[in-house]
Amino acid sequence: MKMKMERVQETRIMLLMGRTWILIMLVGSCASAYAYTRPPPRDILSIPFHRKHGSDPEQVHISLAGENQMRITWITDDDNVPSIVEYGTSPGVYTSSSRGDSDSYSYMLYGSGQIHHVVIGPLEANKIYFYRCGGYGPEYSFKTPPAQFPIVFAIVGDLGQTGWTSTTLKHIQQCNYDVHILPGDLSYADYLQHLWDSFGRLVEPLASERPWMVTEGNHEKELIPFFMHAFTAYNARWLMPFKESGSSSNLYYSFEVAGVHIVMLGSYTDYGEDSDQYRWLQTDLSKVNRRRTPWLIVVFHAPWYNSNTAHQGEGDDMMATMEPLLYAAKVDIVFAGHVHAYERSRRVYMRNVHPCGAVHITIGDGGNHEGLATRFIDPQPQWSVFREASFGHGELRVANATHAHWSWHRNDDDEPVKSDEVWINSLSQSRECIEGSDYSGRKILVSP
Ligand SMILES: *[C@@H]1O[C@H](CO)[C@@H](O)[C@H](O)[C@H]1NC(C)=O
Ligand SMILES: [Fe+2]
Repeated sequence: MKMKMERVQETRIMLLMGRTWILIMLVGSCASAYAYTRPPPRDILSIPFHRKHGSDPEQVHISLAGENQMRITWITDDDNVPSIVEYGTSPGVYTSSSRGDSDSYSYMLYGSGQIHHVVIGPLEANKIYFYRCGGYGPEYSFKTPPAQFPIVFAIVGDLGQTGWTSTTLKHIQQCNYDVHILPGDLSYADYLQHLWDSFGRLVEPLASERPWMVTEGNHEKELIPFFMHAFTAYNARWLMPFKESGSSSNLYYSFEVAGVHIVMLGSYTDYGEDSDQYRWLQTDLSKVNRRRTPWLIVVFHAPWYNSNTAHQGEGDDMMATMEPLLYAAKVDIVFAGHVHAYERSRRVYMRNVHPCGAVHITIGDGGNHEGLATRFIDPQPQWSVFREASFGHGELRVANATHAHWSWHRNDDDEPVKSDEVWINSLSQSRECIEGSDYSGRKILVSP
């Protein structure tokens, strides 16, 4: 009943917003020829699953795991299935195999299936591999990312598993990307563990074919004091290459692909100057070689630059401690989620437009059941270029060492419509920002 009331209210607000929008359009005689009606939230999908056998692999997904390696993760009901992946470059011909390990977890009354993790490689770049999990069952395939530019990233956070999620996923699948980046809030299971399983099935068609690199959001926490540790399900199911990148926690790590160094941070674990995460970030950033990886990107969940009324100020503490590190390292782009809307900033540092700061992009509009965050603060801050509350996804096409094209695609009546786009130049090529920055600026990246 409460849900229904909220829906009705939301619909009213949407209608109202819609009218205001039309008014603005008329008054402002905008370039756009029509008023876009923002979609209401859609229901949670029921994801069918036809299991044939307890040893059948399900919820298969892959992630980058160090140079030329891929981690294959899948779940079986049967806990006697070996953690083995056979693979090769022709269908049905498995010329190599690797072993890994498996584990399960309990969450109150729920017991997970057996979760297998196997790292395979060395793999050739930009090549299709065929693989089979557990020595049995159906064949899957994936493509490894290229070793050099160009490379395409699909980026969207706060996915959930509603009708809008499946629309967003369909658009991502069409965009021919190499690596998916997810800035937190995956399944919206929110303690109901079977929803992690349905999410795993929902994303399998995409996540078994291209590496999905994720970081945690608040919905991954699932902490029950005295009973359940935070991030139990997330860490068990979405193991990321933290060991491979010298981190001691699955909640923050980094990876490199085709000339791009990507740092995945944790908004919901310690980030103070005495924290492990802070020290690890110092070390990781100080090791970045901009000749080898001209692009430097950082990803986390709660945005630092957000002019939406939703989650206002939630990233402030993390920003106060970590933004100087990012600035010293000359980070190009920061992606965040959490706010269910889209927003892109100018290059910005310390809340002011700054030519050597990062471009901040909030892309928390994957399509979860909580709906959109429709209210923005007026006037629009100077650092904010584009903001809109609609579901959609982003694509970053890194053309070469200097140029990357960013575009945001709104789910307009279920069609992807390119609604914002911009060319971004890497700071690694900027004399003003790199050569001009005095040596002491980088000192902050070295632990005392
Ligand atoms: C990099 O890509 C951009 C956009 O396609 C192009 O204009 C530029 O000439 C390229 N630079 C080099 C060095 O190839
Ligand atoms: Fe969130």
